[in-house]
Amino acid sequence: MHDNQDRLVGPLRCGWLAHPRRTPSAARVRAWLGTALQVPAGDLVLSRDAHCRPQLGGAQAAFDANWSHSGDHLLVVLGSDVQVGVDLEHVRPRPHALDLARRYYAPEEADWVAGLAGEGRERAFLRLWCAKEALLKAHGRGLAFGLHRLRFIDSPGGLSLVDCDPRLGRPADWQVRELSPGTGYIAAAAWRPLRRDSGPRAATGTGAAVGGVAGRGQRP
Ligand SMILES: CC(C)(COP(=O)(O)OP(=O)(O)OC[C@H]1O[C@@H](n2cnc3c(N)ncnc32)[C@H](O)[C@@H]1OP(=O)(O)O)[C@@H](O)C(=O)NCCC(=O)NCCS
Repeated sequence: MHDNQDRLVGPLRCGWLAHPRRTPSAARVRAWLGTALQVPAGDLVLSRDAHCRPQLGGAQAAFDANWSHSGDHLLVVLGSDVQVGVDLEHVRPRPHALDLARRYYAPEEADWVAGLAGEGRERAFLRLWCAKEALLKAHGRGLAFGLHRLRFIDSPGGLSLVDCDPRLGRPADWQVRELSPGTGYIAAAAWRPLRRDSGPRAATGTGAAVGGVAGRGQRP
């Protein structure tokens, strides 16, 4: 994608924006959402839930948006009648990829990462990270929920979700799409249809954990 270009990914509209690192994104995101929704940016009702998950309200309540910044770029996704999450990561050396995978990922995923070497290993680690964080952001609890509570396998079509904590719903509910928005970046977007009875604004329930060990969130 070229800087400041949009594209469609499934039901989602994605904006790939050049954005100076460590700069607040609110105004830039609001401007992009305003254009995408054809609403004056100032009229958008944007709030945060208890876990800081952004939410659109008012006349745009049927839409969901999420964004991620890394390096000097920002990736925004927007969809209607879906719960959506996105994660963007700048590709840089990750010498501790295997240690982090062993500590935070499902054992089968860490074994997959361990079976690779060099850049292939670091890329696999980061692909998993993006897919996991995107889904956990769509769900709304973010990394605090636990990266090991969902499991992906690699397949010809990219990473696919094969197992997850019941509080995340069923794997089949979710779409996860790996993205290569620009040179030196990888990303993933995750979404599932909005369940009118619960939707993004519903509190996350409780249920049996995948893998049983709590509280292993971390940064790549
Ligand atoms: C959300 C989270 C995954 C972001 O991680 P990150 O890799 O540092 O940052 P990213 O650039 O990918 O994403 C940041 C954006 O995620 C969004 N976000 C924040 N919390 C979120 C959540 N719980 N669910 C979904 N999206 C969230 C915000 O829009 C944020 O951007 P902004 O602050 O510029 O508006 C991480 O902060 C997290 O796990 N938070 C858990 C919830 C939490 O503890 N929030 C803090 C206090 S309320």
